[in-house]
Amino acid sequence: MTNRPRKQIHLGAHFPGVNSTTVWTEPDSGSQIDFASFEHLARRAEDARLDFFFLAEGLRLREHKGEIFDLDVVGRPDTLPVLAALAAVTDRLGLVGTINTTFNEPWEIARQFATLDVLSGGRAAWNLVTSSDAFTGANFRRGGFLPYAERYERAAELVAVARALWDSWDDDAVRGDRAAGAFLRDGAVREVEHVGKHFQVRGTFPTPRGPQGHPVLFQAGDSGDGRDFAAATADVVFSMHSTFEDGQAFYRDVKGRLAALGRTEESLKILPATTVVLGDTLADAQERARVIRRQQVSGPGAIAFLEQVWGVDLTSYDPEGPLPDAEPDVDNADITRGRVRHVKDPRPVVAQWRARAEAEGLSIRDLVIAVTTRGGFVGTPTQVADDIDRAVQEDASDGFILVPHLTPHGLDDVLDRVVPLLQERGSFRTEYSGPTLRHHLGLDRPAPGRTRTAHLDQQPVG
Ligand SMILES: Cc1cc2nc3c(=O)[nH]c(=O)nc-3n(C[C@H](O)[C@H](O)[C@H](O)COP(=O)(O)O)c2cc1C
Repeated sequence: MTNRPRKQIHLGAHFPGVNSTTVWTEPDSGSQIDFASFEHLARRAEDARLDFFFLAEGLRLREHKGEIFDLDVVGRPDTLPVLAALAAVTDRLGLVGTINTTFNEPWEIARQFATLDVLSGGRAAWNLVTSSDAFTGANFRRGGFLPYAERYERAAELVAVARALWDSWDDDAVRGDRAAGAFLRDGAVREVEHVGKHFQVRGTFPTPRGPQGHPVLFQAGDSGDGRDFAAATADVVFSMHSTFEDGQAFYRDVKGRLAALGRTEESLKILPATTVVLGDTLADAQERARVIRRQQVSGPGAIAFLEQVWGVDLTSYDPEGPLPDAEPDVDNADITRGRVRHVKDPRPVVAQWRARAEAEGLSIRDLVIAVTTRGGFVGTPTQVADDIDRAVQEDASDGFILVPHLTPHGLDDVLDRVVPLLQERGSFRTEYSGPTLRHHLGLDRPAPGRTRTAHLDQQPVG
């Protein structure tokens, strides 16, 4: 590692959106549906030469005990029109949209992303997420049609079909001899036929290959299946593993899956979500971080968080007091809907939290803050630049997706005060090296007619 050239850091700007870390109570918190908010973050990110702008997705307003989460009521516009509008006001910035692989059809998604890639001059990326709960599925008249175990099987087949569609046009087909009207005869645009377990698709795809060949593929999903899927399919992993040791372990695990698939480590970038809190001194930054965490976790929010684990009503408890003595209801998984349930058996979690709260003298709210804090960079601009650079050079990540807590100005200080320091030390670009997101991320452009999934090879696609 010592002789290795300095790695270049990749940075994305996450639009705060409906997110448990977004703070709406500050006077300068802005709209999350006005185009001006999206435009502000995108333009500022591009001015700082970031790799991309990133939108997450939620297909249904989350409910807790039959009521909508306050945060969700602020609304979430549809991803692809927002990115298309941003393509018109930016020139180089990558545009990453999260689109679910469980409730969508490959033809439509392939067409939408190919269109975005063409419109944006090669800046489109699709973040693949498999969220498959029945609560969300009810929006699509599907309910819980797909067992959890099959979510990545469907995702893999969906991506394989999308790739076959993108690859069915030659790069120069659109510039062919239109007068001859012979695209199909000369093979520049080929019919795709796919008969698989989840999809049967036959037809001639209407949209030409975009400048990137395939839009860049991101993946977010943390299970073993999710990591295998990322290794087989993705160009970028959006992860939750942002602390140094955890990041290194995740990085080794996922990159370690690539060689067996014939892929190089450089062909897959690992970008954890992270937050940055700056101050003029370390103490200032730490105090600011403490205040922000208390804004993010209100008293009622802390009780609602515990209720998701306990499975029972805890509103009679004081969030500034000790943890509930009530026992959890092991069978009640329905108190919160529309959110992936990470705790299967609450009893060991409850026991661990009680022990921690007692040992550290934590109230309910303090404990929720402690267990939901996922690292993040806190310090002066120089300290944060040092820490980000070290994380990348020592393979805890290939960069980060920066998640601000305020819309739309939440990243302004990081872009103004930290990015220039990373540029000064030669770890971050001062100019874009090319027009497409693949250029920014250092990814190869797939050739037409070439597919990488073994899965597809077993299917009658041609
Ligand atoms: C970092 C990260 C970000 C995610 N973002 C979204 C999202 O924006 N929308 C969504 O529906 N699911 C999102 N998911 C959920 C995943 O799609 C998936 O449903 C979930 O992680 C369960 O899959 P797994 O068992 O492989 O982790 C995200 C997951 C991770 C790890």
